[in-house]
Amino acid sequence: MASPIARASELTPADPTKRPVAMVTGASSGIGLAIAQQLATSGYNLAICARRENRLAEVANTLRRQNIDVLSQVVDLRDESQILSFFTAVKRQWNQLDVLINNAGLGHKESLMSGETEAWREMLEVNVLALCICTREAISLMQPVNKGHIVHVSSMSGHRVPAITGVYSATKFAVRSLTETLRRELRASNSAIRITSVSPGIVETEFAQKYHQSADQAAQTYSQFPVLQAVDIANAVSYALSQPAHVEVNDILVRPTHQES
Ligand SMILES: NC(=O)c1ccc[n+]([C@@H]2O[C@H](COP(=O)([O-])OP(=O)(O)OC[C@H]3O[C@@H](n4cnc5c(N)ncnc54)[C@H](OP(=O)(O)O)[C@@H]3O)[C@@H](O)[C@H]2O)c1
Repeated sequence: MASPIARASELTPADPTKRPVAMVTGASSGIGLAIAQQLATSGYNLAICARRENRLAEVANTLRRQNIDVLSQVVDLRDESQILSFFTAVKRQWNQLDVLINNAGLGHKESLMSGETEAWREMLEVNVLALCICTREAISLMQPVNKGHIVHVSSMSGHRVPAITGVYSATKFAVRSLTETLRRELRASNSAIRITSVSPGIVETEFAQKYHQSADQAAQTYSQFPVLQAVDIANAVSYALSQPAHVEVNDILVRPTHQES
């Protein structure tokens, strides 16, 4: 069977400098890693970032086995200057960006009644503010050619409010709003750039371990029923990216079949 993003590789035959370029934030694990792997298989050159240097280097080496160019840079998305330097590096290497995957994100289980301000701040800075900065910088590269696709990895927690998610759910409601706001701004400026949000339910990644600060609770989260795997979300992203230019997939909700809410 053809790759789900076959159209992308069709764009990019022999000359590697003519391949489409995709940026994936948070590519060191989980959903971002799976998306980067699928994009590499489909022939994209990749710009990947995260904070864990060793992990990122391992991912970059694996991706390079697909004979694509990979720019990997350690970036803490809470620091705007690091984000801007990453975009400068992309501009220097390709002066082109076809796809931005705003994937990096995290949750802290910190209630509104007694949570730590720093934990709230980190969620807001990574899940919301960095996503806005990356989007703005990506658009500045896409606009001159009036072509590109931005994908936000949101969450089912941006569609309903689960118990005890504190600020996390609010950040994903923000992403939902930012998706529609960007769509409207792009339409108002008659741009052909597209925006998609993908909203996963429970996916087995490092997310739950970090959220609960407990390996046992993470294992419990992922064993209650067959949960999604990161590749399931990569498939949803591929679906959106593979649509013809006149089709803009705006939101995809993906739950494990047995997830209740
Ligand atoms: N897993 C789920 O059940 C689930 C459900 C709905 C939505 N999501 C969303 O899916 C996205 C990916 O999460 P995941 O499940 O794949 O979890 P994950 O395995 O923990 O991956 C999170 C990624 O974000 C990166 N990241 C976090 N903080 C960062 C920062 N300050 N600067 C740069 N990179 C940062 C991490 O890299 P470093 O730690 O190396 O920096 C990592 O690559 C998130 O937006 C999350 O909200 C997940």
